[in-house]
Amino acid sequence: MSRNRPRTHRRSRTLLLALSTALAVSAGTAAALPGDSPAAAAARVDNPYAGAKPYVNPEWSAKAAAEPGGRAVSDQPTGVWLDRIAAIKGGNGKMGLRQHLDAALQQRADLVQLVIYNLPGRDCAALASNGELGPTEIDRYKKEYIDPIAAILADGKYANLRIVTTVEIDSLPNLVTNTSGRPTATPQCDVMKANGNYVKGVGYALGKLGDAPNVYNYVDAGHHGWIGWDDNFAASAQVFRQAATAEGATVDDVHGFITNTANYSALKEDNVRIGDTVAGRSVRESKWVDWNRYTDELSFAQAFRNQLVSTGFRSDIGMLIDTSRNGWGGSARPTGPGPTYDVNAYVEAGRYDRRIHIGNWCNQAGAGLGERPKAAPEPGIDAYVWMKPPGESDGSSKAIPNDEGKGFDRMCDPTYEGNPRNNHNKSGALPDAPVSGHWFSAQFQQLLKNAHPAL
Ligand code: BGC
Repeated sequence: MSRNRPRTHRRSRTLLLALSTALAVSAGTAAALPGDSPAAAAARVDNPYAGAKPYVNPEWSAKAAAEPGGRAVSDQPTGVWLDRIAAIKGGNGKMGLRQHLDAALQQRADLVQLVIYNLPGRDCAALASNGELGPTEIDRYKKEYIDPIAAILADGKYANLRIVTTVEIDSLPNLVTNTSGRPTATPQCDVMKANGNYVKGVGYALGKLGDAPNVYNYVDAGHHGWIGWDDNFAASAQVFRQAATAEGATVDDVHGFITNTANYSALKEDNVRIGDTVAGRSVRESKWVDWNRYTDELSFAQAFRNQLVSTGFRSDIGMLIDTSRNGWGGSARPTGPGPTYDVNAYVEAGRYDRRIHIGNWCNQAGAGLGERPKAAPEPGIDAYVWMKPPGESDGSSKAIPNDEGKGFDRMCDPTYEGNPRNNHNKSGALPDAPVSGHWFSAQFQQLLKNAHPAL
């Protein structure tokens, strides 16, 4: 593994890209500089999204385009989820990793977004995205999952693609928030903390994938409605540091972090700011905010970036925010701040996020598409991305037999009354949803309808 790799200045990369694109156009081939060594052509830039043309996943794109009105967004780049060992090779009508990378070259794209998502004992605080590997199967994770992916990414053919890898969604913060000592603990998360396989798996993935100079690792960092509380904030950064220095990885293998993946937290709550005080009470005292330090994802991501740097990550890390489903537009969107006679009335009437409780995560009723993918939108933010492909379910509303290891989590059942992780509220999930990852037409329709910015 290479350490302390130099980062070239953004401008030199842009120049190189312009040059390679010009060459590719004149030669009629995918971007590549003749005679240039792959490593030299692909030296890391500060923000891989700056000036890049991201890959459009044709599989997602076709499903989106087949929906009424779907063509408004079907050319947007979305994440390619490697959610099982078989996804690397593909088959049964599904594209494998090489096919995606080849398709990216054909599109003359220069950035591909992958989701590394197959940890042992996956999704320890929920059931809907349980995976194929049992809690102890760390060796299979390394040899049958990470190693083959790393080998493909290291192929010189792909050296001019910037490959963004978002590493293990919704995993590490569970070790802080859902283990013994907390009211939200689950036995499965205790097991993953005790055996160390989340930490080892993430460390191994970062180190191995980070060997390719054109790979940009972004570690999943939950969202503000998970680690934005004082008890969880610094402790989560510590666990990320622990993972980033496990199994041969170093903090130099981490280009940044991604927040809000597959979640629904609003990007900016203009009507509910953390400093607002109403009738003598801080919004932090409201039922909705419940002492969190953040009311929205942007303020959280920027603050958490600083926390990560002070915990030992590089000072030039960048954040990604998944805005695929956090738009909360449509007719229910508040147009201004709520009344000021009572802090709860103020927050309830002003907040864009219409969830029943911020711990709700499955196929949320009322959600809309958020900001379209965009490079460098705000300080410290490398991009708004659509890592969770809009229209793909978070989990089934009732038990559905499947061969993917997916369980039935009642947080996806609209009749469920909740658990400690959503403070015993209704789940807020849409009815009739398929197994996680499967196409959910009704949800996609709703996301289009409630898009903000509107389509
Ligand atoms: C599922 C994955 C799927 C991903 C993207 C996750 O919830 O568990 O199988 O690939 O969502 O839709």
